[in-house]
Amino acid sequence: MNSSLFHKQGEKFFIENVSVDSIIEQYGSPTYVYSKANLISAFLDFTTSLGIIDHLICFAVKANSNIAILNALAQKGAGFDIVSGGELKRVLLAKGDPQKIVFSGIGKTNEEIELALNSDILCFNIESEAELYRIQAAAKKLEKKAPISIRVNPNVDAKTHPYISTGLKDNKFGVEEEKAIELYKIAKELSHILIKGIDCHIGSQITEISPFIDSLNKLLEIVNFLESIDIKIDHLDIGGGIGINYQNETPPSFKEYSQAIKNTFGKKQMKIIFEPGRSIIGKAGALITKVEFLKEGSIKNFAIVDAAMNDLMRPALYDAYHEIINLSCNSYGHEKVFDIVGPVCETADFLGKDRHMLVNPNDYLAILDAGAYGMTMSSNYNSRPRAAEVMIDGSNFFEIKSRETFEQMVYGEKLPPNSKA
Ligand code: LLP
Repeated sequence: MNSSLFHKQGEKFFIENVSVDSIIEQYGSPTYVYSKANLISAFLDFTTSLGIIDHLICFAVKANSNIAILNALAQKGAGFDIVSGGELKRVLLAKGDPQKIVFSGIGKTNEEIELALNSDILCFNIESEAELYRIQAAAKKLEKKAPISIRVNPNVDAKTHPYISTGLKDNKFGVEEEKAIELYKIAKELSHILIKGIDCHIGSQITEISPFIDSLNKLLEIVNFLESIDIKIDHLDIGGGIGINYQNETPPSFKEYSQAIKNTFGKKQMKIIFEPGRSIIGKAGALITKVEFLKEGSIKNFAIVDAAMNDLMRPALYDAYHEIINLSCNSYGHEKVFDIVGPVCETADFLGKDRHMLVNPNDYLAILDAGAYGMTMSSNYNSRPRAAEVMIDGSNFFEIKSRETFEQMVYGEKLPPNSKA
């Protein structure tokens, strides 16, 4: 099993000191479970690997935005990378420090910008000239100075799935190097803009170090040039993107990644900001689901479970692999090859394909490594309520989001006046 989340003791699976049976008994399925210890140890591993370097780790809220997860990280000193007003409000609700928030994203609205200015966030990561002017205008209106970085698109191939690659010239993110320099020159003259940093993010689930180093070198070149024209940059934000091992990937460890970054900086002294999401929470979470039926055919066997693509979208959207284990130790019979599928009416609704395993109706399965981009990408497709979320902390466990009810799901929907039966 490629997971440190579950461990087997006798005939039972545990997360930390809690038996999975007791979670299932209390909360049913489908349910996302998270180990607080795993989450915190990933965060501390990363920060420790950076040693004495002046740095800030801004957890990418889009990976997992549950306020209990954000609060656990905030307590350890994490900052946050946000991409919407909603994510900003979540961080504030989770008692995150606004002075440790960076705001990324290509389409910030006036309302979002004003909310961020009024919250005194650390930095806006600006992705276009139009956005620079919009932020200047908003800051002027509120009589504030907006701290900014320009997000550079370094045209580096992150060698990852095309849908999660963001640092190539044909992606919608950031601006090209020459444009970035032009924007810094403009920003310097703007009355309500304060130049703070430089930023990039080249993609996600990156398993090699070289794309990070190539983009870092490009950013450092820009920083040196800007310094030569008297534009001072305090921090360099290198984004997120470190991959995790879902199947047979061999991503760099935090130690290897940090060492390579330190080597590239050499003697240059500046604060470094990181925006990791997946590498902090990915392995700390799993989705527990119950087997409803088996459907065995001449070509394929299907295990139909009570979780679906609306709960975990990654397999359907990216053909992503998640390891699946059977938590029911008393399962009987022979192993067979199964597709593990949900009840949603789409052929893309699968959670795993061609899995050699022992499965029986009423068994509970765990879909591993689902802590990142699991719950945050879930939907109500097929009018399925969103799953519950549970956090395990030592011998305790807490519901950190209750299963959505039908009433919550249809909240805000209305029949037009005079609708007839
Ligand atoms: N910073 C920015 C500006 C980002 O756009 C992202 C992710 C991150 C940081 C965090 O990247 P991470 O460390 O998690 O790789 N839904 C996809 C992943 C999309 C990532 C989008 N941006 C998936 O499930 O694989």
